[in-house]
Amino acid sequence: MIYPIYLYGEDVLRKKAEEIKDFNDSNLHVLIDDMFETMNISDGVGLAAPQIGISKQIITIQLPIPSYGVKKYVFINPKILKEFGQYVTIEEGCLSLPDIHGNVKRRDAIELEWYGKSGKFYRQFYSGILSRILQHEIDHLNGILMIDKFESEDKLLNFMKLEKIKDKKVETKYPVK
Ligand code: CO
Repeated sequence: MIYPIYLYGEDVLRKKAEEIKDFNDSNLHVLIDDMFETMNISDGVGLAAPQIGISKQIITIQLPIPSYGVKKYVFINPKILKEFGQYVTIEEGCLSLPDIHGNVKRRDAIELEWYGKSGKFYRQFYSGILSRILQHEIDHLNGILMIDKFESEDKLLNFMKLEKIKDKKVETKYPVK
């Protein structure tokens, strides 16, 4: 099932998402499949459950890997233990903020703890693109949006667009709410 993407202005994007406790719940696995399906039609590389109106700590990511295909990742109850490495500024976008782009400064690397979809516990270091996407998506689980991290110039540049999104006067290639 394809969910509509909740846009900037919807309360669920500003709430702290709840932890997953029951990994045997079949609804959880259906939801994860639906998140990938929703990401596919919206051309996103990362999706956090609050972006489809579900305030739970689930992140799906899919990345094209040369000579491999598309690699899929699921992160449940992710927690950043440490951020380190150099600060990198990269232009980000977000399905909940269509047509908005701005520079966001983040550390290059993180040490992450999370659960897989069957409840297996993991701890690992990430850097580069995957670390970047993870930090953006984990922000979603805490009610933080990339615009909160824009420098004042980018905030100003995107101000009118943000108002339009709030008024739902925005066109997207994917269903929205
Ligand atoms: Co986003």
